[in-house]
Amino acid sequence: MIIPDSLQGFPPGFAHYPLYFSSAEQAELIEVVKQGVAQAPFFQPVMPRTGAPLSVVMSNFGALGWVTDKDKGYRYEPRHPKTDQPWPELPAALGRLWDKLTDYPAQPEACLINWYKEDKASKMGMHVDNDENNLRAPVVSVSLGDPAMFRIGGPKRGGPTKGIKLYSGDVVVLADDARLCHHGVSKVWYGKSAVVPRGGRINLTMRRVNEVSTS
Ligand code: SIN
Ligand code: FE2
Repeated sequence: MIIPDSLQGFPPGFAHYPLYFSSAEQAELIEVVKQGVAQAPFFQPVMPRTGAPLSVVMSNFGALGWVTDKDKGYRYEPRHPKTDQPWPELPAALGRLWDKLTDYPAQPEACLINWYKEDKASKMGMHVDNDENNLRAPVVSVSLGDPAMFRIGGPKRGGPTKGIKLYSGDVVVLADDARLCHHGVSKVWYGKSAVVPRGGRINLTMRRVNEVSTS
């Protein structure tokens, strides 16, 4: 396999699709996010134990949504923590994206909506996505709005990382080794894009939470 120069040093299974979505498609995705958060408003996630707020605000699409609070910590729930209503359905365009870019035999149950806001100078610390029962299925994520520096390291905390600047319309896939690598968003260049109506950056991250039953 030929690895493009730009991806040398990134873990196997990391893929970057620059400008996968056209401007018109990005605007459609924003419309879908607007409808989603009208039903399931952005909420402020907080860290387990300390109760310190994460710097993003978030919501979800899908049968399950990722939530976190002081008492129960990181987990998936079928209902919004504030409205107690089910999350809006996974938008069809995102389901199609998953089917195109993964060979996973089932759709993701969860799509996190992370909003990086200028007034909060939102970033995301290095972490591994490991709250799922299924750690083999890939993670597929879409960037909308202001550009951001995405960093990815290895399976252990610390150690060297590689950075890639993600622009509105870009898609990233974490599969194979990359699926269990530490990653985060070290910087957002706020005020550069008009794609997100209230500014900042929106990241949509699809995850398969449970194993697919074969019985
Ligand atoms: C995440 O790792 O959950 C978000 C990554 C991103 O915002 O690009
Ligand atoms: Fe993540």
